[in-house]
Amino acid sequence: MSQPTIESVLNEKRLFAPSAEFSQSAHIKSLEEYQQIYDRAKADPAAFWAELATTELDWFEKWHTVLDWQPPNVKWFDGGKINISYNCLDRHLKTGCKNKAALIWEGENGDSRTLTYAQLHREVCQFANALKQLGIKKGDRVGIYMPMIPEAAIAMLACARIGAVHGVVFGGFSAEALRDRLVDAEAKLVITADGGWRKDVIVPLKEQVDKAIANGAVPSVTDVLVVKRTGQNIHMSAGRDHWWHDLQQGVSAKCEAEPMDSEDMLFVLYTSGSTGKPKGVVHTTAGYNLYSHITAKWIFDLKDTDVYWCTADVGWITGHSYIVYGPLSNGATTLMYEGAPRASNLGCFWDVIEKYQVTVFYTAPTAIRSFIKMGEHHPNTRDLTSLRLLGTVGEPINPEAWMWYHRVIGGGRCPIVDTWWQTETGGIMITALPGAVPTKPGSATLPFPGIIPDIVDLDGNPAHDNEGGYLIVRHPWPGMMRTVYGDPDRFRKSYWEHIPPKDGNYVYFAGDGARKDEDGYYWVMGRVDDVINVAGHRLGTMEIESALVSHPAVAEAAVVGKPDDVKGEDIFAFVILEGDRQPSEELSKELKKHVVNEIGAIARPNEIRFAEALPKTRSGKIMRRLLRSLASGQEITSDTSTLEDRSILDKLREGA
Ligand code: PRX
Repeated sequence: MSQPTIESVLNEKRLFAPSAEFSQSAHIKSLEEYQQIYDRAKADPAAFWAELATTELDWFEKWHTVLDWQPPNVKWFDGGKINISYNCLDRHLKTGCKNKAALIWEGENGDSRTLTYAQLHREVCQFANALKQLGIKKGDRVGIYMPMIPEAAIAMLACARIGAVHGVVFGGFSAEALRDRLVDAEAKLVITADGGWRKDVIVPLKEQVDKAIANGAVPSVTDVLVVKRTGQNIHMSAGRDHWWHDLQQGVSAKCEAEPMDSEDMLFVLYTSGSTGKPKGVVHTTAGYNLYSHITAKWIFDLKDTDVYWCTADVGWITGHSYIVYGPLSNGATTLMYEGAPRASNLGCFWDVIEKYQVTVFYTAPTAIRSFIKMGEHHPNTRDLTSLRLLGTVGEPINPEAWMWYHRVIGGGRCPIVDTWWQTETGGIMITALPGAVPTKPGSATLPFPGIIPDIVDLDGNPAHDNEGGYLIVRHPWPGMMRTVYGDPDRFRKSYWEHIPPKDGNYVYFAGDGARKDEDGYYWVMGRVDDVINVAGHRLGTMEIESALVSHPAVAEAAVVGKPDDVKGEDIFAFVILEGDRQPSEELSKELKKHVVNEIGAIARPNEIRFAEALPKTRSGKIMRRLLRSLASGQEITSDTSTLEDRSILDKLREGA
């Protein structure tokens, strides 16, 4: 693990307070109010969460035990019965939200659709019944491999309604990657679409599903359900494949939500770690419902009049918590956009904001940096005055990008919430509450009430102010992951053992380096393990190395992140060839394509450098620190005394 370094953000002293007008109408109105809530929650977290669970959610049966913590295993609201689809839909039908827009959808090709709460409820119920007809039962796993269309949310909510566990796989993953995830989750059914629009081309999703499950590669899958989105020709396998619209024919739109135990599994979502294949992060029902609900409410300050837009894909945790569950549980209007900024319409995001009068906008720093490159002309020629609040997520935001976002998109009036969290945490952990906490560009600011983070060294000793260290969380919270699907051992090792427990107090290890300043503000630096963050996408270097090594020409590979202006990091691969294979431009291209086939376009190496050997310690460990310096063309100033053969460094440099 690398020691976190403190970068130039140390000099960032600008402070931005929300306007009095914003604060007055916000859910949490002042720093004092935040502090009061925070202190109360810290003094008795279980009581704090129990109170919110009572006031914010509808239950079929109340829990008997708020928190049962036997590290690393946790149960929240044990004994309670609840259903998140009920909390996202049914309860709003009784409170005047019936005809309010629940989901606004804008397709990349100009199609659009708005579903009211009553309409969304009807579609979810009908689809839940269709799932039952296919024999899907409580506890069954359902793979969802979809474009950004309303049916993706409908499928998730329908699974939740009958107690099936959804496993959404990002539509940009390859057939190979999809197969691995379906196999690991033992999915019975895959829900997909004929295709989806992305940057003016059709992504052939159904074709990828066919490839993934061909020749019985995923024996658990018995059925495939296909939404007609793009209308191109696809192969439908008789008996196995069904059209969504056919299955809906004549199906009842009445389907009561299944009362679920609080700790029943809600979904599994795969994410990269530093070792091995991606991990299936497991989230359960009640705790996740409460945590995604209350964080969405307080952080995005959701009101009845808001049109809220999160630009993530439902294939990531951000899409789960802050496109679907969090906003809908609050009865808010959530917008879903199928497309991405593309050559034919660089200003499409701003068109969407203008068209729907979006009030709250949540996106990633990498997107902001690419908007900066596209030029101010695009946002400046659209009316963005409806916006009142902005958010970012996925990676550290550099202060310059923050300032641009604030000035050009927010017109200088919108607070920015820089939200730190992870697939594992279920919801946002460190962030400003926008009406309460003054922000500093580049800092995620303060912990959410009920969250007790800290910065420590590898022995668990707290770091001093402004001293870099490892970001940890000291107390369980309702939205935390419960386990790694099928691998509790990996759960314990990955998150609870890097920092030894002191006096039996276990701490959650996030895998990020950070520091806390003299005001208690958190500055997250980035991963300290072998995980890289490429355009907000989290990738394990080992996954990419395994993909490279699975090519017959490759003997060994080492992948590191190289700093990039727009993407944050880019993928740089050092490759050693088998036997007498010779380096060539063609081979480099072939290897990049091979990685795309194995994982997906998000994992395509930007650069491949062929080498004769890799720098290793005497005990045979690859010295990635040196490779990172080499990749970014920096002088190697750090200690190389443990390096076995120093001439390797010169050769690697020459390889450039
Ligand atoms: O390194 C942190 C970075 O993204 C990682 C989590 O990635 P993932 O599970 O894919 O979830 C992304 C969306 C929640 C973290 O370990 N990260 C996320 N948000 C921030 C961040 N780094 C700095 N600042 C953030 N606001």
